[in-house]
Amino acid sequence: MVIRGKNTYITKLKREHVDEMQFWGAHEDPLFYSYTFPKMNKKEKDYWYAIKRHSLKRKSFAIYNESNILVGYISLRNIKWFRKISELGIVFDPNHINKGYGTDSLKSFIRYYFEEMKMKRLDLKVAEFNTRAYRCYIKCGFFDNGIELDEFEDQGLAIYEDEKLKEYQTYFKKVGDILKCRFIKMSITREIYEQNKESYPHYPPNTCA
Ligand SMILES: CC(C)(COP(=O)(O)OP(=O)(O)OC[C@H]1O[C@@H](n2cnc3c(N)ncnc32)[C@H](O)[C@@H]1OP(=O)(O)O)[C@@H](O)C(=O)NCCC(=O)NCCS
Repeated sequence: MVIRGKNTYITKLKREHVDEMQFWGAHEDPLFYSYTFPKMNKKEKDYWYAIKRHSLKRKSFAIYNESNILVGYISLRNIKWFRKISELGIVFDPNHINKGYGTDSLKSFIRYYFEEMKMKRLDLKVAEFNTRAYRCYIKCGFFDNGIELDEFEDQGLAIYEDEKLKEYQTYFKKVGDILKCRFIKMSITREIYEQNKESYPHYPPNTCA
């Protein structure tokens, strides 16, 4: 299985991909520390893969660029086959963000999701401060579906202590001991995909007259 975009292609995630991800870069912005792929020993990598690998409720994919470098991965979780809905997660190597790979790969993935997997809706949640991801999702056709206060992945974030993060405090709230963050819920439906099909081109292009 290969899903082709313009500058990227997507394959099924395999255990050896996790070894390659160990060489990915690190985020310098504290808000994104939890997206830096952690350095893990073999047992931890096996465990990480065991969680992400294909199962009844989960599918994971590796994303390559045009130079055959592994640049990111996509995970579908909480797949509800009967209702044909699931939730998207997408993470890139920090060395390869902001190069258009996210938008390109996600558009080809959306095409695959609705055309091949025959799904009806794809949901996601994005931290309100994460304007890069939000912009990418908007370009891919997702629409806003409400705001939700939810536990922030990195409970160690010094949001109230680090002066440089002061402007971001508005996105966070401490509830008891838990650091919560404002998330935008987003979705794309089969109907929206169908209405804008030309935005999700087929690669290589269909040349049949
Ligand atoms: C989110 C992510 C998958 C997007 O992929 P990407 O390849 O970086 O995104 P693209 O380059 O395709 O598009 C990014 C867009 O955001 C814009 N952008 C970048 N930084 C921005 C900022 N600070 N504010 C507003 N827009 C910004 C870019 O200009 C671009 O838009 P444009 O093409 O209209 O100019 C990737 O950045 C990533 O893995 N980030 C870290 C993990 C993460 O945040 N995952 C998502 C969790 S919901």
